[in-house]
Amino acid sequence: QYEQRIQTLLSNMTLEEKVGQLQQCGPSLVGAFDVSFDELLNMMFDGRITKEEFDRLMGTAQQDFHEEDLRAGRIGSYNGIGDAATANRLQKIAVEETRLGIPLLFGYDVIHGFRTVTPIPLAESCAWEPALWEKTGRVAAEEATAAGVHLTFAPMVDVAKDARWGRISEGAGEDVLLNSAYGAAKVKGFQGDDLSKPDAMAACVKHFAAYGAGEAGRDYNRVDMSMQRLWEEYMPPYKACIDSGARAVMPAFNDINGVPCTANPWLLRDILREKWGFDGLVISDSNAIAECVDHGLVEDKRDAAKQAIQAGMEMDMSSNSYAEYLKNLVESGEVPERVVDEAAADVLRIKFELGLFDNPYQTSEERERGAMLTEGSRAVAREAAVKSMVLLKNENHILPLKADARIGIFGALAADQGQMTGAWAIGARPEDCVSIVEACGARGISYQYSEDGKDLLKIAASSDVLVAAIGEQKEESGEAASRADITLGKEDLALVRDLLATGKPVAVVLFNGRPLAIPELAEHVPAILEAWHPGVEAGSAILDVLFGEVNPSGKLTATFPAAVGQCPMYYAHINTGRPGGKSKFTSKYLDAPVEPVYPFGYGLSYTTFAYDNLAAEQTGEAVHVSVSVTNTGSRDGDEIVQCYVQDAAAKRVRPVRQLKGFEKVSLRAGETKTVDFVIPFAELSYYDWNMEKVPCEGILKVYVGGDSRAELSREIRI
Ligand code: IFM
Repeated sequence: QYEQRIQTLLSNMTLEEKVGQLQQCGPSLVGAFDVSFDELLNMMFDGRITKEEFDRLMGTAQQDFHEEDLRAGRIGSYNGIGDAATANRLQKIAVEETRLGIPLLFGYDVIHGFRTVTPIPLAESCAWEPALWEKTGRVAAEEATAAGVHLTFAPMVDVAKDARWGRISEGAGEDVLLNSAYGAAKVKGFQGDDLSKPDAMAACVKHFAAYGAGEAGRDYNRVDMSMQRLWEEYMPPYKACIDSGARAVMPAFNDINGVPCTANPWLLRDILREKWGFDGLVISDSNAIAECVDHGLVEDKRDAAKQAIQAGMEMDMSSNSYAEYLKNLVESGEVPERVVDEAAADVLRIKFELGLFDNPYQTSEERERGAMLTEGSRAVAREAAVKSMVLLKNENHILPLKADARIGIFGALAADQGQMTGAWAIGARPEDCVSIVEACGARGISYQYSEDGKDLLKIAASSDVLVAAIGEQKEESGEAASRADITLGKEDLALVRDLLATGKPVAVVLFNGRPLAIPELAEHVPAILEAWHPGVEAGSAILDVLFGEVNPSGKLTATFPAAVGQCPMYYAHINTGRPGGKSKFTSKYLDAPVEPVYPFGYGLSYTTFAYDNLAAEQTGEAVHVSVSVTNTGSRDGDEIVQCYVQDAAAKRVRPVRQLKGFEKVSLRAGETKTVDFVIPFAELSYYDWNMEKVPCEGILKVYVGGDSRAELSREIRI
């Protein structure tokens, strides 16, 4: 549709202007200190300055938007500008003061909401509800676009099987099917049905590819795996997002089998362009092009620029490699100008698709003022938060609490508004967030609160139930936040032990951005609610669940190991020739179980469900599965019905179970419903040793139930 206009524009552009379109920069900070923003952050993280000093310095700093470069046509895009006034001011320079008036593209990390911060993605995935994922994506897009954002660096669909990796918080967990469904829904939500509408935000799927498989769960680390595994377990979610219409892709920081994704022609040209037919924009991760030197792929930044552009990396985020070297590389004949033209064309195309040439100012300060934190958005955030929570344990029906229960609340996280949002919530403001304590006050609940366990005995004596808000700080997950020890902190454990020692019923509310190893809690604490980082409506949503106004229905999308040494731990493992068992020479640990504490797919409700009448048969080129599910308790509730398969004898060993379908059903107390799944044969095929796709043949075991340990099964022969 826009090809003619793109070509006309390109033919009028100088080489420098084309390279300018490939340059994405962020504002730099200048002012009361003479170190870069990154260095300042490092200084805070390694303790050279306090958080207060950091905030003070940031407050006095000024932002440098590189306006000289902008006027000269040397900037095509900005990252990190999230307010309408600045966006429009810079856009005006681009449109009115550059030679060709090409509008800017504003990118931003809108990962789980903009101002209305919704639960972290790992949490939201536990709702197993594509319609919800799309809805929260829409809310994020409405707010972010009102603040001038055109493109979000999301969704992240990196399958993550290792709980040590901090960025497990930003995706949909360990399963390939769930990440695919999650990513596809988010793309729809962000982009809406017409990208040129002012409230549509282009999606940039990331991090292509397999960033979640970094060795030992350490961020940015190498990924070395078989092609079979890469294609079966890691690639499908990126493809699902592209099929759902994602207009941009961000290659990952890591290497795959020795070649960094940033400069990997196999990944960016052969797969993305040729095999998948992607015709959108490829944007590097921050500084990733220059980092090819540190990877040891190239000698210097110039060579990095050369290899990256030739590999198909189009826009350079923050490394200035193209700005510094690309013109010269073309002039010296080392890079054909055609390669730069193709990349610039993809930048121009997304700008046309977003409607920026016809309407460069897609927002106003007035629209921005009215768009944030509306009643409707907050309602969506609360719905998402309650649906994300997972009830891990509920002995003796401690929960739900009675409306008139007197509760003793402990732990700093119960009152810390700033901790409710989790990692990557740049637009979040602590004052927007409702804490547990605040929500108790607003509801007139009878409660006493102690941040640090002081007066514990006194509070316990006059309370009916004790609630401990413990877990991780939001800084303990997310980017560059891998942990070698994913157990609870000493203080949290001491608090829980002291509470248990009082003899009063104890409920733990966990805040965390990853699965934790919590065997002691699982054994001794009678009630555990996994709240994750729930977003702006945290406190209200937690009380909704604790007091039973909402019956919890979330199910884990990442396994909770018993010990960190089990990591990576995930349900879809293979069996080995000696599956872990009682006898000595089996695949297990001497000092830890082989089983997790809480498996993938697990989560309780205030009611109970029973499964029956499982049937599985081959019909044409698919397997049809049906099961009846009954709410056997006395409350209405939602159940996430999960269908797993195992190809029992195959040309390559197959996982013990693989999720092939899921459906959330609402069941009134006593009600029964039949749930059907259709699994096309194509979804059962796999790669043989030679990377040829082979069909599933022979015995197929089908399991259906409420988690990945479901026992109800049928065998069919295909
Ligand atoms: O989008 C992010 C990415 O996930 C990690 N590095 C920085 C990018 C842009 O802010």
